[in-house]
Amino acid sequence: MNRGLFIAFEGIDGTGKSTQLQLLADYLRSRGLEVVETREPTDGPYGRRIRELYVDRGSCTPEEELDLFIQDRKQHVAEVIAPALASGKAVLSDRYYYSTAAYQGAAGCDPDRIFSANSFAPVPDMVLLLTMDPEVSVQRIEQSRGETCNDFEQLEQLKKVADLFAGFSDNCITRIDAARTVDQVQADIRRVVQPLLGSG
Ligand code: TYD
Repeated sequence: MNRGLFIAFEGIDGTGKSTQLQLLADYLRSRGLEVVETREPTDGPYGRRIRELYVDRGSCTPEEELDLFIQDRKQHVAEVIAPALASGKAVLSDRYYYSTAAYQGAAGCDPDRIFSANSFAPVPDMVLLLTMDPEVSVQRIEQSRGETCNDFEQLEQLKKVADLFAGFSDNCITRIDAARTVDQVQADIRRVVQPLLGSG
């Protein structure tokens, strides 16, 4: 069976993951790949519950929050990611289990235990970890999106999250400096995914 290509985008809020994912999807399609764009939290029942938490994080414990992200991912893998990969498609996911290890790790859960709890989830061919100083990412969120930061995005918390992301060293991770123009970041991304695309 021809397994597809699996790329996850990771990083703190405000680094431009969604924009870059969309641009990479366009590029891969232009190269003839069938692309599935997806994201976590998902739009399923667990993902919807998580989105309610954005506004009122105190309404559940860190453990309950962790459990929701894991349940959401189980469903995401079973219903979207695994079937798409099995049929040879390219899957681009906006966030994956490194977000859980970093965000729920910053909330007090043990990152190693979080990784173990995600052992059911397929390992991506590449994780594009978009890096940026949290002070800059928070400014971006507040200025360019015209939003105030939600509970997941508070600066002190994001600094802890960024520190955890900085410590991850799995082979599949490629770090991309996201504090540059959209075009520069995308050019870098296309360069690093090139070896995964074969010669066609
Ligand atoms: P985000 O990518 O910002 O979604 P959207 O653009 O739709 O708002 O993700 C929402 C928040 O969820 C983000 O602050 C990070 C957090 N998150 C976790 O805490 N753990 C996880 O496992 C995932 C996938 C996301």
